Amino acid sequence: MSQNKTRTVYAAVFATLLGVAALAAVAGLATVYLGLYNVAASEQHWKPVYQLLENAMHQSVRLRARNVERPPEFTETMVLRGAGCYRDQCLQCHGGPGTAQGDIGKSMQPLPGPLVDAARRWSTKEMYWLTRHGIRMSGMPAWEHRLDEEELWSTVAFLERLPGLDVAAFKAIAFEEVDGARRAGTIGACGAARMVMAPPGAGNPVLGRQALYQHACNACHMIPGITGPETHVGPPLAGFAGRANIAGVLPHTTENLERWLREPQAVKPGTAMPAMDVSPADARHIAAYLADLK
Ligand code: HEC
Ligand code: HEC
Repeated sequence: MSQNKTRTVYAAVFATLLGVAALAAVAGLATVYLGLYNVAASEQHWKPVYQLLENAMHQSVRLRARNVERPPEFTETMVLRGAGCYRDQCLQCHGGPGTAQGDIGKSMQPLPGPLVDAARRWSTKEMYWLTRHGIRMSGMPAWEHRLDEEELWSTVAFLERLPGLDVAAFKAIAFEEVDGARRAGTIGACGAARMVMAPPGAGNPVLGRQALYQHACNACHMIPGITGPETHVGPPLAGFAGRANIAGVLPHTTENLERWLREPQAVKPGTAMPAMDVSPADARHIAAYLADLK
């Protein structure tokens, strides 16, 4: 082939590739802006999309779980505590041996699958990572703002035990149910420790930012640095650090702000801001974030 011909072939190949890329971009944009992709939760994703999302999730978890610190030695006490956490926090969506998931869990997309075999599909560190951080855009919550560190690891200890439990063993350990009779109340409520624990030291604005998302503050407030909908249910919090009072009733001090975040209904009965089970530690971190909103 002469040099000229080679050049013509290259030019044609390049033009074709450009054409294909342009077509793909137009198809992608049309899908988004003409609303062609069906987001109804009553339909499952198109199979290739489903596979792509599942693979992306698996690889993402694998990559990030590598940095999880070594798990503690699992004790029998942790397994029992984890069983309580599983019953209180996971059962509603994931179900358990002989126990169906709740209606919300059944109708979610992606469907929260049974966790009876999770320990066979994920490593210990990966299960911890999944439980702690959750899975964005799937409905799997991040539990780090609801369970303390020991409860997180205890839940993982229980997930490791789960594949070996039959229905009777599961009910005995999770519900303390023996011969159909429940002895509820002997396992402490999971997540309660966070609500009474004294917060450690000064607040950390980075954790505060996470907590703002976790408590869905952005559902009602527009907050600088926090992605969320355009909303005016609560006042925008831009420049909040400079405001003299909180909700018109409390002088603006750090202590008062933490109190407002934990129990707005007690501070100002009937206010439209709901109490959201914000732990003392989360309130301290959120207050640190808001203090930077000059
Ligand atoms: C509000 C519903 C909900 C609750 C409550 C919930 N999950 Fe999930 N979970 C999900 C969804 C949705 C997925 C994603 C399923 C997918 O992408 O295939 C998921 C996925 C997972 C996965 C990876 C699933 C797999 O089979 O590969 C693990 C592990 C997990 N959850 C653990 C937990 C634990 C532990 C708890 C309790 C502390 C919990 N989940 C509570 C909804 C929930
Ligand atoms: C359901 C909607 C809603 C949610 C969720 C919500 N708030 Fe509010 N918030 C309000 C409303 C309404 C007010 C005004 C209350 C009043 O003045 O009585 C308010 C007031 C406030 C104030 C005082 C603002 C001022 O100008 O004095 C702060 C600070 C605040 N919210 C922070 C938060 C944080 C942090 C969260 C998450 C933990 C949160 N809010 C969640 C509705 C909400």
